[in-house]
Amino acid sequence: AALAPYNSFSLQARARYLYLLREPAQLTELFRWIYANDLPWLVLGSGSNVLLLEDFAGVVIINQLAGITLSETKSDYYLDVAAGEDWPSLVEWSVQQGILGLENLALIPGTVGAAPVQNIGAYGVELADVCQQVEFFSIAEQQQQCLSPAQCEFAYRDSIFKHALKDKALITRVKFRLTKQWQAKLNYGGLRELGEGASAQQIFQQVIGMRQQKLPDPKVLGNAGSFFKNPVLNQQQLQQLMVKVPAIPVYPASAGSSKVAAGWLIDRLGLKGFQHGGAGVHQQQALVLVNHGQATAADILSVCRHIRHQVWQNFALVLEPEVRFIGAHGEVNPDTVLG
Ligand code: EPU
Repeated sequence: AALAPYNSFSLQARARYLYLLREPAQLTELFRWIYANDLPWLVLGSGSNVLLLEDFAGVVIINQLAGITLSETKSDYYLDVAAGEDWPSLVEWSVQQGILGLENLALIPGTVGAAPVQNIGAYGVELADVCQQVEFFSIAEQQQQCLSPAQCEFAYRDSIFKHALKDKALITRVKFRLTKQWQAKLNYGGLRELGEGASAQQIFQQVIGMRQQKLPDPKVLGNAGSFFKNPVLNQQQLQQLMVKVPAIPVYPASAGSSKVAAGWLIDRLGLKGFQHGGAGVHQQQALVLVNHGQATAADILSVCRHIRHQVWQNFALVLEPEVRFIGAHGEVNPDTVLG
């Protein structure tokens, strides 16, 4: 089966089998079959954070579990959302309903079930801030289990689903708690200008405007959002970098560390619009790699290596991919692929 419709880079990889998951009840049977046939498996929502390096030798499961349940208490709304629901549609619907708190996360491509895996975040809010519980199917136990946000070990673009539960869990539902005492989150540049009285609707519109200006629509220009993570530096590393580039945008990160804008560094190296084969650096946002139409995974890897090399030579920083690299048998470590 062709995977081009199931990855936002629109790469022409194929899967030996494609399985559309519509009901959680299918899972027991599905995994029995997968193990009986000794096949590798991979779950995709909308494939908006993967680089498919080659054809997949096993089963690609497309999570299409659907359904949203709304409940409320005096103080909060609860949204219980099936993993295959579309994230940007959920945000838009909730803001329209007056259920507020997701507006900063507008227009992030992907599904609800993918959101906790890398703890999606944008414009000063992360999934971890609104997540109440994650429900998953445990492959080993053959049953549904739940995790609290603390148990999810959320961090910057990270969670337990990339570590201890990697290849062991298939996320089926995510529950959100959104307080009725809503407060605007305006810390990020571009939102602060809206002023203290900004409504959720205004934030929603502003975020959409900013994203549409800088981030390419995957339907028009294949991409997977930010290709690299922003490096997290300790005080000493930050000071060393600031000697070279005092103007670099810096954001506070956990435990006294700082995140620096990788896109700004790539931009400063003059790489916006850089092209190799069918792949390139996006003209409006240097952290985003794009498929100009006919790119192969090898083209994207070449652009990626070139950027890593330049950033290392000039700033002594190693950029780690944020996009997940998928080989024939499952996820592979980018450092092994990139050399
Ligand atoms: N910048 C440049 N040139 C560029 C790109 C960025 O000068 O080519 C500067 C910007 O002007 C800004 C700073 O660098 O001062 C940061 O840029 P931006 O606000 O566009 O965000 P980012 O750090 O590049 C991160 C997330 C995005 C998220 C935005 C907004 C990561 C890896 N990326 O990008 O998330 O939408 O912040 O919060 O953390 C994603 O993960 O796929 C993603 C798009």
